[in-house]
Amino acid sequence: MQKRSLILFFIGVVGVFFLYSCTYNTLVPEKINPDQKVVFATDIQPIFTQYCAGCHPSQHVPDLREGKSYSSLINGNYINKSAPNQSLLYRVMTPNGGMSFAGVSAAQLVLLWIQQGANEK
Ligand code: HEC
Repeated sequence: MQKRSLILFFIGVVGVFFLYSCTYNTLVPEKINPDQKVVFATDIQPIFTQYCAGCHPSQHVPDLREGKSYSSLINGNYINKSAPNQSLLYRVMTPNGGMSFAGVSAAQLVLLWIQQGANEK
């Protein structure tokens, strides 16, 4: 009997973890597929809107609100297309960068977007 309740307990624990993983934030996948095409409007801007735009309207540059962010980032030199990992935008989003609110995979996605040319469309 004891063995059986141990098994039931184990199933319960696994079940709770499973349910938890379903409700976990799915905005940015945990693992970034390096072959995916990153689209600014649908992959990058939602990150800014959820994690950044609360503090980054015009008085805190860069302005990361939808419709403003792209030109703000390009004109403010936050993106370095010839050395993507030197881009200030990417650097501040990494764990020690101070603006890591959106997590590691969001930073990786931003880096991939810059490596693909940092296109607006
Ligand atoms: C809690 C408020 C807050 C949030 C959330 C926030 N920031 Fe910031 N951010 C700031 C402040 C304050 C500064 C400093 C602004 C200044 O010096 O004028 C700053 C500076 C920056 C800078 C400029 C650094 C420089 O040296 O010019 C970048 C780029 C930046 N943030 C990106 C982001 C990104 C991307 C996000 C979302 C992942 C984000 N921030 C979220 C408050 C915030």
